[in-house]
Amino acid sequence: MDTESKQQVPYSREDVFWWGHASLEKRLAHVFGYTPGEYHVSTQDLESNASFVNYVRHHRLTHLHSGDTFDVVEKSIRKVLFISSLEARFYRERGALAGSVHFQHPDCLGVIETPWESLIFTRFVHGQAPRMARIAPQIAQGIAEIEERSNRHVQTNSWRQGYRFWEMDFFRPWYLLRWRFNFVRYLPSLDALPAGDARFQGLAARLRKLQPALRRAQAQANQTPRCFCHMDYLAKNFFVSPAGLQMIDWSEVKIGRVGFDAGAYLSAMFRQRDMVQFAKVRGEFLSRYVEALDQRFDAPSALRNADYFFLQNALWHFLRPKTIAEYQQRGKLDLLREKYEYLLTLSL
Ligand SMILES: Nc1ncnc2c1ncn2[C@@H]1O[C@H](COP(=O)(O)OP(=O)(O)O)[C@@H](O)[C@H]1O
Ligand SMILES: [Mg+2]
Repeated sequence: MDTESKQQVPYSREDVFWWGHASLEKRLAHVFGYTPGEYHVSTQDLESNASFVNYVRHHRLTHLHSGDTFDVVEKSIRKVLFISSLEARFYRERGALAGSVHFQHPDCLGVIETPWESLIFTRFVHGQAPRMARIAPQIAQGIAEIEERSNRHVQTNSWRQGYRFWEMDFFRPWYLLRWRFNFVRYLPSLDALPAGDARFQGLAARLRKLQPALRRAQAQANQTPRCFCHMDYLAKNFFVSPAGLQMIDWSEVKIGRVGFDAGAYLSAMFRQRDMVQFAKVRGEFLSRYVEALDQRFDAPSALRNADYFFLQNALWHFLRPKTIAEYQQRGKLDLLREKYEYLLTLSL
């Protein structure tokens, strides 16, 4: 029997608040509603790189009598000033994406909040990391589906829920104060490029001129329809499985605007691919995205939001000292120049 069919999801527990962390046995007993001692548990650490994540662990539970196994992932996210993480908040709204077709979302089995951390339990999925460029059309449909479903979900008349959504909003003033949204602060890192290299002469001044258009696009985006945005389109956050394309890791989630995730995906492709490959992926992705976009949304403004998000993200990435040093070490300054020139051609 294969592992997938052997696994029965017990049920999703109500999210709870505990004053302390409690033992693993107690945590699992709560999530699964079993009596401690009924299962044997073996645990393995999974690789995590987000700075606020304490750990991500895979627990395999084996029922002592029947031998049935169940695989679960526990993710512990550190709290700052007792404030719950956006990922834990997202899981509270998990019903919004239930029944999705284009992306599968592993069941969330429960969330335990303590003053210091959020513990999120999801079903472990088996599968291979996809080639993200190859599945551009599928990603486009998946994004359009998240946008359609979550846009309905965030429209609420309840002020309490409205407040909860506001706390997750991309346009909360202090989110936008983050360095990554102010590329001008990174312009001095261009000084690390060889002085007198004609390819980069006057580049900082030319890039700086993008700022007014980017600000305008940001203000315009704020007025467009809201939806959940995953924001982290890396191969390690997806699994190709018999049940379909599984999406995990909502640690970057925000309530953003229709089109932002398209920009997030394209900026990940822009980082990883050369210009010819990128142009191909972009064309394939956008044509399917526009087709899949729900009729409630205005396609030109979704595409403008995608360009805004793309440009903002790409400028941040390509002006980071780390990126510039990498391109320099690998002798790829011509490619780096092409990337800057491409960004300069974008008219928002
Ligand atoms: N539900 C899951 N099924 C299988 N593997 C998972 C699951 N959740 C996480 N993982 C593995 O753990 C890694 C880290 O988890 P993730 O939620 O992406 O944390 P981070 O925010 O640190 O990237 C993932 O890249 C993946 O390999
Ligand atoms: Mg991840």
